Amino acid sequence: MPRLVVIGAGGHAKVVVELARSCGFEVVGCLDADDTPRLVVGAPVIGKDDMAASLLSDGVRFAALGIGRNRVRERISVELEALGFTLPALISPKAVVSPSAEVERGAIVMPCAVLNAECRIGPFGIVNTSASVDHDCRLGIAVHVAPGSRIAGSVFIGDRAMIGVGSAVAPGVTIGADATLGAGATAIHDIPSNTIAVGTPARARATR
Ligand SMILES: CC(C)(COP(=O)(O)OP(=O)(O)OC[C@H]1O[C@@H](n2cnc3c(N)ncnc32)[C@H](O)[C@@H]1OP(=O)(O)O)[C@@H](O)C(=O)NCCC(=O)NCCS
Repeated sequence: MPRLVVIGAGGHAKVVVELARSCGFEVVGCLDADDTPRLVVGAPVIGKDDMAASLLSDGVRFAALGIGRNRVRERISVELEALGFTLPALISPKAVVSPSAEVERGAIVMPCAVLNAECRIGPFGIVNTSASVDHDCRLGIAVHVAPGSRIAGSVFIGDRAMIGVGSAVAPGVTIGADATLGAGATAIHDIPSNTIAVGTPARARATR
């Protein structure tokens, strides 16, 4: 069984540990800034992030990110790849994935997610529990589509954008890079980069 280390040890790491196991990996443990010995759904916290290189020399070739924050997840993913780790796409056996959908390296697709025809999930992205991404969507690097969100067809989502829990995006809308669509919002018009938008219809509340 291929061995894999999870980076992070919080709530998101729990679901990533279980996802990796369901994809056939042995999770050797988690690395976290707080290396207090403890278990994350049975996986031991074995050290801080700087232990990654020694795990690689012990033959652990695979890593997965258990970190929700998009910018941090992107940065650490790139660092791990530079060290020599492979970040596999992890797709839950309980997700429904079109044969023409593309899921790039380091992206994770949680149980009950649906990916429809010819959509593309960029590197290090998260399509979370029960979220759906419909036909022809393009998701950039390290995008997070939170649980229960519904992305209609031909939507473009820029790098590191966060699509909040239970939100919806209408067909053809563009969500800019580093934008946040708030929980429960409905985007019927484009949302500019670096903008936080909330409500139905979603309106900009702030910029970063
Ligand atoms: C939109 C969001 C990012 C704003 O966070 P924030 O900047 O910390 O905002 P605050 O909590 O300080 O709230 C500021 C105001 O916005 C309102 N607001 C915040 N989120 C809102 C939302 N999703 N919908 C409508 N209004 C919202 C608050 O009620 C508050 O209004 P007030 O000023 O009239 O009291 C956050 O509330 C959100 O929805 N995040 C999504 C989280 C998520 O889905 N995570 C998934 C994890 S798996």
